[in-house]
Amino acid sequence: MCKAAEQVKEVVQNTQLQIAYHFPCPIYLIERPDFLPQVNEVSEEFLKQQQQTLDEIYPVKMTGNYFADPRLDKFTEFVGSTAWNILNEQGYFMQDKVVSFTEMWTQEHHKHSAMEQHVHGYGSQIVGFYFLEVPENSSRVVFHDPRMGKAQIDLPETDVNQATIASKMINFEPKLGLMVFSNAWLAHSFTRHASEKPIKFVHFNLTVQMAQTVACPAAEVI
Ligand SMILES: [Fe+2]
Repeated sequence: MCKAAEQVKEVVQNTQLQIAYHFPCPIYLIERPDFLPQVNEVSEEFLKQQQQTLDEIYPVKMTGNYFADPRLDKFTEFVGSTAWNILNEQGYFMQDKVVSFTEMWTQEHHKHSAMEQHVHGYGSQIVGFYFLEVPENSSRVVFHDPRMGKAQIDLPETDVNQATIASKMINFEPKLGLMVFSNAWLAHSFTRHASEKPIKFVHFNLTVQMAQTVACPAAEVI
């Protein structure tokens, strides 16, 4: 051990170390299996409208948007109010703002399908998933460390199976009726699906708007 390292060791031994953790990346997990029957009914109806045969390279089916379907009012209200609450509790000033859906659709991933790492831009603030069918050996949902500075100078991890400050990503095992929320700036992906039966989930994205829009003065002229 060099002299400098010996001095650091001595300082650490003789000093109470205080650690200030900041800039966290929260991921919210909520179990709500009670929404499954209603969401499945709408989801299956929209999936049936997808007549395309499965692609060999990308074996996944996706529906169109259905957040405006009135049969899902209770579900969309819960997802929307949870998104608002998350942003409010994170410290954002939300009192004069509302959240609204930009997208809500079903993904049906068959064996070997996966979803590559991406973020949802174009105004999304909160993104999430709701798991409708989860056979054994399903894809896992993965969230990726957004700190670009860390990515540039990263070191190998001691054990990638442990979630530590050095982790580059974190995965969660999907569960029937599980909802997952995160900020839209957190990139996500899905690992390859290993079951003969497909995994099905809702993917939803929400944006933030002013509760009352203020007309531009120029628009009032004449
Ligand atoms: Fe996504």
